[in-house]
Amino acid sequence: MTDRPKSSTRPSRSRTAPAKPAKPAESAPDKALAARAAAVDILDAALARRGGLDEALNAGAAGRLGPLDRAFARALVMATLRHLGPIDRALDGRLSRDPGGKVRNLLRLGAAQAFWLDTPDFAAVDTTVSLAPERMRGLVNAVLRGLLRDGPPPEDPESLAPAWLLARWRAAFGEAEALAVAALIAAEPATDLTPRGQADPAMVEGLEAVALPGGSLRTEKRGDITLWPGFADGAWWVQDAAAAIPARLLGVEPGQSAVDLCAAPGGKTFQLADAGAVVTALDRSAGRLRRVRDGLARMGLTAEVMSADAADWNDARRFDAVLLDAPCSATGTFRRQPDVLWNARPADIARLAQSQSRLLDAAAARTAPGGRLVYSVCSLEPEEGEAQVAAFLARHGDFALEPIAAGEGGSPAASLTANGCLRILPHHIEGGLDGFFIARFRRAA
Ligand SMILES: C[S@@+](CC[C@H](N)C(=O)[O-])C[C@H]1O[C@@H](n2cnc3c(N)ncnc32)[C@H](O)[C@@H]1O
Repeated sequence: MTDRPKSSTRPSRSRTAPAKPAKPAESAPDKALAARAAAVDILDAALARRGGLDEALNAGAAGRLGPLDRAFARALVMATLRHLGPIDRALDGRLSRDPGGKVRNLLRLGAAQAFWLDTPDFAAVDTTVSLAPERMRGLVNAVLRGLLRDGPPPEDPESLAPAWLLARWRAAFGEAEALAVAALIAAEPATDLTPRGQADPAMVEGLEAVALPGGSLRTEKRGDITLWPGFADGAWWVQDAAAAIPARLLGVEPGQSAVDLCAAPGGKTFQLADAGAVVTALDRSAGRLRRVRDGLARMGLTAEVMSADAADWNDARRFDAVLLDAPCSATGTFRRQPDVLWNARPADIARLAQSQSRLLDAAAARTAPGGRLVYSVCSLEPEEGEAQVAAFLARHGDFALEPIAAGEGGSPAASLTANGCLRILPHHIEGGLDGFFIARFRRAA
C-alpha cells in the first residue's frame, strides 16, 4: 500500500487523509469482510446516538475483532463521517429512492474506503456487494461502480456540514467564519499533548512535536501513543490545545484549593494538580472517573477524586478556584469526533443549556469570596456560551466577568470577544484546534 493516489482524480491526502492502519486486505477474506461488517454496525450506532461510536467500537461485532481489524474498521468509519456530506450528495445523485439505512451505510463505507483509504476499487465493490442483502446486490453494485467512475465528490464547506448546523454558525459568526469552520470538517487533526511541568527538549524532539503558545505540544505522529517517548514516565497527557486553555486561566498558585466539577477524563484536573493546587475532582460518572484515577497515577499527581452530581453535591467547602467544564453538545470537537455533527439534534442544545445553567449556579455556590470561576464548553452554539454568561451575570450580582487578556493561556488572538471571553473557532490557529467557549468570573471578596 502506498500514499500515492490511485488516479489523478483522487484528492491530495496530505492534510485530510486518515492515519492508515494495516488493512485487512492482507488478512483472510472473511476477516476483511468481518471488519467491514463491524464498520456498518459502528456507523449505524455513531449516527443513531451520542456516544454510539465509542460504545459500538468496544461491543458486538467490533469487540470480537483483532486489534488491526478493529483499527481498520474505526479508520473506515471515521473517514466516512468526515466526508459524509459529500458522499451523501453524490449518492443522492445516483439513487432514485432511499434504499434504507443499512444499505445507505454500506454504500457510504464502500465509497469512503475507495476514495480515502486506498482500497482498490474492485475490493471496495466486492466486499460491499457481499455484505448487502441478496435482493439489493444489483443496486449496490451499480450505484457504487457509478460513484467510483465519477471520482471523489467535491468537498465544498457547504456540503461538509449538516445544513441546520451551518445555518446556526452563519447566524452566530457570519458567512466567512461559518464557512471557514465547516471547511475543516474533512481534515484529520494532529495530536496535541500537555506536558507535565517543563517539557524536556529531547522528549519534544523524540515526539517530533512543536510547542504551541501556552505550552501544548503538537505532533503529526500516529500509532500507539503508549510507545511514544515520555508516556511511560507520565511526562504528558493527550489534550487538545484549546481544551488546555480553561485550566490555565484559573492561574492557580501552589497550595490554593481548586475544584474541577465535571472532571472526567481528567485533562484539566491534571493541569491544576501539576500547577500545585490542592485539587478535588468531581464527576457524575463513576466509570469515567477511573480514567482520572489512572491518569493521576501515571503522571504521579494527586487529587481527591469523588463521584457526585455537581448540581446537588452535599459538601460545605468553598474553593479559591472553580472549574466548570460543562457537559455540552460538543459541536466544537468535530475534528476528533466527527460523529457529533451527525447525531446532534436541535432539542439537545436547549436541554444541555438548561443543565449548564443549573451547574453554573452550583459552581457559583462553591466559589469562595474573592475566588475565580472558569466556565467552558467545547460547543460552537451560543446558547451554551455567550447566552449562559449573560444569564449567569443577571442571576448572580456578586460575580463579575474577569476579562481574559489577549493571548492569555495560549489563547488565539482572534478568539477574544469584546467583553473578554473566548469564542475559539477551529480555524483560529494554523492546523486547527477544538472549538470552545470560555468565560472567567471573579466573586466579590
Ligand atoms: C466535557 S466533559 C469534561 C471533560 C473534562 N473536564 C476534561 O478536561 O477531561 C463533561 C463531564 O461532565 C460529567 N457530568 C455531566 N453532568 C454532570 C453533573 N451533573 N455532575 C458532575 N459531572 C457531570 C460527564 O460525566 C463528563 O465526564
